[in-house]
Amino acid sequence: MPLVTTTEMFEKAYKGGYAIGAFNVNNMEIVQGITEAAAELNAPLILQVSKGARAYANHTYLMKLVEAAVIETGLPIALHLDHGDSFELCKSCIDGGFTSVMIDASSKSFEDNIALTRQVVEYAHDHGVVVEAELGTLAGIEDEVKVSAEDSSYTRPEDVQEFVERTGCDSLAIAIGTSHGAYKFKPGTDPKLRFDILEDVERRLPGFPIVLHGSSSVPQEFVRIINENGGNMPGAIGVPEDQLRKAASMAVCKINIDSDLRLAMTASIRKYFNDHPDHFDPRQYLKPARAAIKDMVAHKIVDVLGCDGKA
Ligand code: G3H
Ligand code: 13P
Ligand code: ZN
Repeated sequence: MPLVTTTEMFEKAYKGGYAIGAFNVNNMEIVQGITEAAAELNAPLILQVSKGARAYANHTYLMKLVEAAVIETGLPIALHLDHGDSFELCKSCIDGGFTSVMIDASSKSFEDNIALTRQVVEYAHDHGVVVEAELGTLAGIEDEVKVSAEDSSYTRPEDVQEFVERTGCDSLAIAIGTSHGAYKFKPGTDPKLRFDILEDVERRLPGFPIVLHGSSSVPQEFVRIINENGGNMPGAIGVPEDQLRKAASMAVCKINIDSDLRLAMTASIRKYFNDHPDHFDPRQYLKPARAAIKDMVAHKIVDVLGCDGKA
């Protein structure tokens, strides 16, 4: 099976009350850890590449790693550009074989967001590629751009219908209180996503796939291991998994996870070096790191996304 778009995945996910995991990939061990978990659980998958990942690992290397995963697993896998910030970047990924792109013009004015998204949609649809757009602004860091909590803003449900109609986008990322990175909520607070906004959006766009960015749950076990092995991550708090599960049962069809991959890998490697200070063969410490990613992704697929057995 070649790489697929997200169209059929989202139709089934919406009807079935589950979501597809969209995991960020940067190197071979990350691709393998994610796809081995999905293969064992027969789960559909979105592998996504940020502008930074593409600059780090190179388009062709990432493309070929993902193609290898398709061959090895036989799973339906979509290859998606995460947070595309220009028409040129989206075009380059479309021309280079991605099956889905995000144009993130959410920091622009409503009219400028529509104009740029529309331009990407026209090119993408002419090439059989689907487009995710964003309305509302998440706090946190993505591709070295930091959005402060004060500058973030929830999606206005009254805007979504006009936005989707005028852009022709295939899915929409909304801001309901999630944010990028490992420091999402203040320690000691009770994180709550704005399900009232999600319900309102769902009512205005029946059947339309919604995307949640910034959806790592920052497992405290990883933070503890990192801090017990020379790290210093004070007050890292993520999105509670029961709230993600609830979102997945609603209109949310794609849930983005990157920070939890980083934490799983870093916790494993920090512990490995503490336990084996004399080791220096990368295979020795990357093997358990890959296994840690696999375990974490398997947990997400079964307990959070609910997409096991849906490939
Ligand atoms: O939302 C951003 C993703 O976590 C990608 O992060 O731009 O550092 O690759 P990155
Ligand atoms: P996290 O930082 O919560 O993993 O979010 C990742 C993301 O939204 C990628 O687009
Ligand atoms: Zn994101």
